Amino acid sequence: MDISLYVHIPFCKKKCRYCDFVSLNSSDEFIERYLRALEAETVARSKEYKNAKIKTLYFGGGTPSLLTARQFLRISDAIKNNFDIDLVETTVECNPESVSEEKLIAYKNAGVDRISVGVQSLDNGILRFLGRIHDREAAINAVKLAVKYFDNVSCDLIIGVPGESVFSVLNSVDVLCGEGITHISAYGLKIEEGTVLYDMQTAGMFETDDDFAADVYDAVCARLRDKGFHRYEISNFAKAGFESAHNKCYWKRTPYLGLGAAAYSFDGFSRFNNTENVTLYAEKLESGILAEVNRATLSKEDAMTETVMLSLRTEGGLDVKSFNEKFGCDFMRDKAEALEKNRRFLQIENNNIKLNKEYYYISNSIISDLI
Ligand SMILES: C[S@@+](CC[C@H](N)C(=O)[O-])C[C@H]1O[C@@H](n2cnc3c(N)ncnc32)[C@H](O)[C@@H]1O
Ligand code: SF4
Repeated sequence: MDISLYVHIPFCKKKCRYCDFVSLNSSDEFIERYLRALEAETVARSKEYKNAKIKTLYFGGGTPSLLTARQFLRISDAIKNNFDIDLVETTVECNPESVSEEKLIAYKNAGVDRISVGVQSLDNGILRFLGRIHDREAAINAVKLAVKYFDNVSCDLIIGVPGESVFSVLNSVDVLCGEGITHISAYGLKIEEGTVLYDMQTAGMFETDDDFAADVYDAVCARLRDKGFHRYEISNFAKAGFESAHNKCYWKRTPYLGLGAAAYSFDGFSRFNNTENVTLYAEKLESGILAEVNRATLSKEDAMTETVMLSLRTEGGLDVKSFNEKFGCDFMRDKAEALEKNRRFLQIENNNIKLNKEYYYISNSIISDLI
């Protein structure tokens, strides 16, 4: 069985104001303790997955580039020494303030072939609003360094941030493309409960504007199209041949295994995840126990819902024939009413349903009608 492997490094120098991912600022001692636990989980899980071949590997966070080169190599070696690997893509997420030439060389020597730099914006005012600890110059330098060593470099942007202008977002896009990157993920800002931005919004310190966010998204799509990037998922744009193999596996619902605190897994039938409590994660592994907290086998309805939801976000859309065969249903008949209601947002031809690209920004409401 081919699988994808995700490794979570839950450490950051400082929490960004918008972020609700599991990440914290820890001591060097605790990071060492976490890495020992991660090695132990790698060994334990590799025994369960001895018939699996790892096709894609993704070090995400948190901030994987916060690890020293030596710490990164420890984990990378543990994976190679325990799993059967046949990698087509290995990605490391890097933050501008912690990436360095030495680390990039170590990644390269370890077989990494894709770097994802968390830029978010090249506008210093927006970076401050988001609570990022780097500025425009540091982000550009990190991208330059990544492009020097890697042919496949992606940048994350957050768009639709209150106070930004279309001009400033397009400047970020232009400058990053000018550096020779091959992929951009442009995520609309989500204000998550429990974050600093959520509290600021609740206190009336700023307002969000969906129409403005839609305009920014359209402008980014058009600019990236002009620059030869095609949109292969709602938030993801790539030069031909540089689509992320790892992300595609999530959207196609092929199996993946997550290692580390808060990491999620899917074995084709069930979803399960590790505890989000990083200390508990370490304690469990120290006692020789996996830190898994939830395991749910998906019902047929769950699997159908996920398939519709994930495939409609992608360029390929929903293949109705294979959906009907897989789930023993007749999608066009069963969803006739919702399909009619959303007719103008959809492209339906040759047993395939796609969202019309100009309606991507209202995808959530269209998709929820269809599931
Ligand atoms: C979990 S972060 C890890 C990447 C890396 N630590 C960084 O900050 O650059 C992955 C990406 O998710 C996006 N992201 C996280 N929280 C978000 C939010 N509330 N709204 C929109 N995008 C978000 C950011 O673009 C970020 O780069
Ligand atoms: S966005 Fe990245 S750097 Fe910021 S807190 Fe989240 S994981 Fe850490």
